[in-house]
Amino acid sequence: MIDDLLAADPAAEPIEAVHRRLRGFLDRHRPPTPCLVVDLPTIAHRYRRLRGLFPRAVVHYAVKANPAPEVVSLLAGLGASFDVASPAEAELCLRAGAAPDRLSYGNTVKKASDVARVHGLGVRMFTVDSEPDLVNVSAEAPGADVLCRVFAEPPGASTPFGRKFGCEPELAESLLRRAGRLGLRPRGVSFHVGTQQLDPRAWEHGIATAARLMDRLADSGVRLTTLDLGGGFPAAYRDGAPPPSEYAAAIEEYLDRYFGAARPEVVLEPGRAVVADAGVLRSEVVLVSRKAYEHRHRWVYLDVGRHNGLTETEDEFITYALATPHDGGPTGPVVLAGPTCDGDDVLYERNTYHLPLDLHAGDHVDVLAAGAYTASCATVGFNGFPPLPTIHLGLDGEPVTGVAHHG
Ligand SMILES: Cc1ncc(COP(=O)(O)O)c(C=O)c1O
Repeated sequence: MIDDLLAADPAAEPIEAVHRRLRGFLDRHRPPTPCLVVDLPTIAHRYRRLRGLFPRAVVHYAVKANPAPEVVSLLAGLGASFDVASPAEAELCLRAGAAPDRLSYGNTVKKASDVARVHGLGVRMFTVDSEPDLVNVSAEAPGADVLCRVFAEPPGASTPFGRKFGCEPELAESLLRRAGRLGLRPRGVSFHVGTQQLDPRAWEHGIATAARLMDRLADSGVRLTTLDLGGGFPAAYRDGAPPPSEYAAAIEEYLDRYFGAARPEVVLEPGRAVVADAGVLRSEVVLVSRKAYEHRHRWVYLDVGRHNGLTETEDEFITYALATPHDGGPTGPVVLAGPTCDGDDVLYERNTYHLPLDLHAGDHVDVLAAGAYTASCATVGFNGFPPLPTIHLGLDGEPVTGVAHHG
């Protein structure tokens, strides 16, 4: 079922056409809601597009964005490598047919037993950002390749990326030196500029930092070969994003500027940019209400919310585009909320959304570009709401029926 997708290379379809097609499928089949429908040909296209834009880079798909076996199997068949965050994700990729040497363990927060398990599966590439993790990797994955993740945030950044992962370059330098002494192979530097990164220039600081670090290490005989630029490439949500070609042009320029002819092997770890555009999440309106007769804005409660698929509405970080059967008619402002008894299960209150005045309980609201970090982030049953069911469509626009494994 996935084989025809591997052979075909359909032309780029405008995102609006993809979403129209997926909504048409949902109209015809009327699955119970909420339900995510994912278009595998669009995922194949997004992966190939990235390969085309970065022809010299190795693409490790970040499995966490959408770990559905259908997706992982398709990407394995297309020759992708994989960034995994846990032993379970590594096993999933191997089941889908990826060879262990195409996997990297990018999570810098891992138990020694997880390192051992993933190493036992044949994985030989690990990312670290701390001394205890480095020591664990040396003990449980002797001889493995290691990358060290550094902070990528430029000084004075207006939207800080958080400091859970990565370390200061000085610490990275000493960890990579120590890696060699511990019998590991110091392989490279990695960073992540923050997910749904809307500024293509965001990679400059990390590339410059890595170049300086790699230079200093080379001076003392530690030669790193790999630069991992992480993920961060955006999807097409409500407020748009620069085209992927702008990211490729900016990154190409920085690699030239900071590495010149001595360019290392470049690894990308895109998650969102491979899968997000390919999904439409159909929900149903549970209730439309007002909190006072004189209020202009309505509260629209959907049967999908923060806990059963729309996790990334936390802090209103991702602003999804929405579509309803009444689009085109008069609209009014709404607060959008999910179905659970949790007061935090409010999707958009600060961001102004306008929905049709004709919208009533029982109508559908479609969440567009919902293929990333939705089904995989749904809780197993908070408040009794089940995880988000997903239907995967193949080249013929019909659900695929089995998962092929590709070696
Ligand atoms: C190590 C690592 N690589 C890649 C990604 C994928 O990022 P994105 O979905 O923004 O492309 C993530 C996301 O959390 C990550 O933690």
